[in-house]
Amino acid sequence: MADAKLIDGKGFAAGLRQRVALGVGEIMGKDLPRPGLATVLVGGDPASQVYVKSKAKTAAELGMASFDHRLPEETTEAELLALIARLNADPTIDGILVQLPLPRHIDTAKVLLAVDPAKDVDGFHPLNVGRLASIAPGAPLDFSVPCTPLGVSMLLADVLGSLSGRHAVIVGRSNLVGRPAAQLLLRADCTVTITHSRTRDLPGLCREADILVVAIGKPDFVRGDWIKPGAAVVDVGINRVPGADGKSRLVGDVAFDEALKVAGHLTPVPGGVGPMTVACLMFNTLQAARRRAGLTSAAA
Ligand code: GUN
Repeated sequence: MADAKLIDGKGFAAGLRQRVALGVGEIMGKDLPRPGLATVLVGGDPASQVYVKSKAKTAAELGMASFDHRLPEETTEAELLALIARLNADPTIDGILVQLPLPRHIDTAKVLLAVDPAKDVDGFHPLNVGRLASIAPGAPLDFSVPCTPLGVSMLLADVLGSLSGRHAVIVGRSNLVGRPAAQLLLRADCTVTITHSRTRDLPGLCREADILVVAIGKPDFVRGDWIKPGAAVVDVGINRVPGADGKSRLVGDVAFDEALKVAGHLTPVPGGVGPMTVACLMFNTLQAARRRAGLTSAAA
């Protein structure tokens, strides 16, 4: 059998960013306020610093106003809540992103609840979590949903067309990826199975998947013989492992070389799902700005 077709997340994300930039231009052309994104990082976690920098920079590149708030590790919960209250009230801001994880002395649930749901471009506010959990099949997404699973569903729709009736198996039940991915694929009329580290006969279940979404955070966890021939495999994992040359390299949660021989479509790591996360954050921010401006927002 021929090797799997690679799913070009990097290319798709570039196209999506271009469409967002056009959307920003359209808003500016109507003399409406410039869409604005506020990013908030508490503490100095190196990976979070890289992510937040990329989010703030991309927003500016697409013509949005970008406000990058960096707070010290010792910031109190009350101080963070006060900043969020200011951002909620600020009419120049359409989207607020509080980078996770927060330091242990801050109650993450309390912080996510404090963000105005209309500005919650991460889709983490309980109101938006509940909206996605109760959405009707095919109903429009007129609120923000989490960026990484949104990117996954966009890539799958792009390469497969209709997802209706396909069996999607999700490996991982996180609030960030697994659960919202399952809900987005249900909305797209997939039959969805959510699996996790305690699932019995995980390889056997994975072998039944027409669509396999893997977000478990373990390098090379899913092997080639877990994959149904021709399946679409989306690898959400980003794991840094030691390479043969002594440097570290990035690998996904799927054993890539093995999967390539069996799958029909496969996302590479890097260059698959990764670039979609930031592009979808920009998409969510544009949609929030369009809703605020009273423009009808095309659903994803
Ligand atoms: N940390 C890891 N992924 C994410 C994300 O998508 N959003 C936020 N806010 N924090 C994260």
